[in-house]
Amino acid sequence: MNLSNTIRKISIAQPVTDEEEWFSVKESILSGWLTQGPKVAEFEKAFASKFTINHALAVTSCTTGLHLALAALDIGPGDEVIIPAFTWIATANVILYCGAKPVFVDVERETFNIDPKLISEKVTDNTKAIIPVHLFGLCADMNAIRKVIPAHVKIIEDAACAAGAKYNDQWAGSLGDIASFSFHPRKIITTGEGGMVTCENHKLFEQMNQMRNHGATVSEEQRHHGPKPYILPDFNLLGFNYRMTDLQGAIGIVQLKKLDYLIDERAKWAKWYNEQLKDVTWLGLPKEPENGKHSWQSYVTYVNPEKAPITRNKIMEFLQEKGISTRPGTHAVHMLTLYKNRFNIKENDFPAAKDCDANSMAIPLHNMMTIKDYEYVVQIIKSIY
Ligand SMILES: Cc1ncc(COP(=O)(O)O)c(C=O)c1O
Repeated sequence: MNLSNTIRKISIAQPVTDEEEWFSVKESILSGWLTQGPKVAEFEKAFASKFTINHALAVTSCTTGLHLALAALDIGPGDEVIIPAFTWIATANVILYCGAKPVFVDVERETFNIDPKLISEKVTDNTKAIIPVHLFGLCADMNAIRKVIPAHVKIIEDAACAAGAKYNDQWAGSLGDIASFSFHPRKIITTGEGGMVTCENHKLFEQMNQMRNHGATVSEEQRHHGPKPYILPDFNLLGFNYRMTDLQGAIGIVQLKKLDYLIDERAKWAKWYNEQLKDVTWLGLPKEPENGKHSWQSYVTYVNPEKAPITRNKIMEFLQEKGISTRPGTHAVHMLTLYKNRFNIKENDFPAAKDCDANSMAIPLHNMMTIKDYEYVVQIIKSIY
């Protein structure tokens, strides 16, 4: 059937929320406990249990979770933190929040992830941590990364896109010292805004738990439910207010139960796209990891500038006219004015990141799309020649 004359509007992402989330939030609202409380605790417990990690700590976003991780590791002025040059700006910003220096490493074009071969030349005596990013839901090559960094360098996973992803048989979130996830609505599961920090180490967990609540030595629960109403906390370190609300926690509990189904469905359609689009010679398609599991937060293609009949931007404009939303994968952060100027970086210092910035293209893949939507996307892409 020719679908090209049908008017369609296909968004790049759309969360799956329904009455179940509504009833869960309603329960919180009627309970009168709105800030971090029992729903957040339940969400944390379910998250830690699902991904077999000792500790999970709900926060206001992946960004604040990454900041909390760096702060708990006492990263500050004079320290360097290695990150990929192709990522969302938050991965770099959190390093500046601590007064430390982001050190960029170029990425692999095929995976969009940090290139382990290029890391060791960037390691110095000041390197305190590395933040590998599991971009678009594909885990960075953690074994290769571990081999090239000194043992004392801490690993913080930017798992913003990677809830439910696996590296070999290990869950994202359990692959480094600390990890941070995002529940922004462009992610597979959402709490509106929100994040989750995971770690195995109990001391680190306690430190982050305290820092999440202004650095207070006594938690809200202890103050409100304990037998000593006169207790005020002491503050012995600098903390933040990164607490998730119970309203978000209530949504998170329901969303987490949907995660496996949502990923399975996305994986099915990603495979289908790979099959249907394999003959489009100008379009590079995302690969599944040989071992492990892609979470398919986004389906990001590469428009080969040597082979494509028109530029990536013209293709995106054409698809937009046809009602199909697309987005560039993400940024080459070293090319953004803030970083370019502050660290005197040249665009060509990280050629693969620059190339991915210019030529990556996410096409719609989410759980609110119909078969007809998928067929339409393929048909329109194949009409470009
Ligand atoms: C790779 C990466 N890191 C961090 C973030 C920040 O997540 P949040 O919006 O929850 O702070 C994002 C968000 O898109 C991301 O894609």
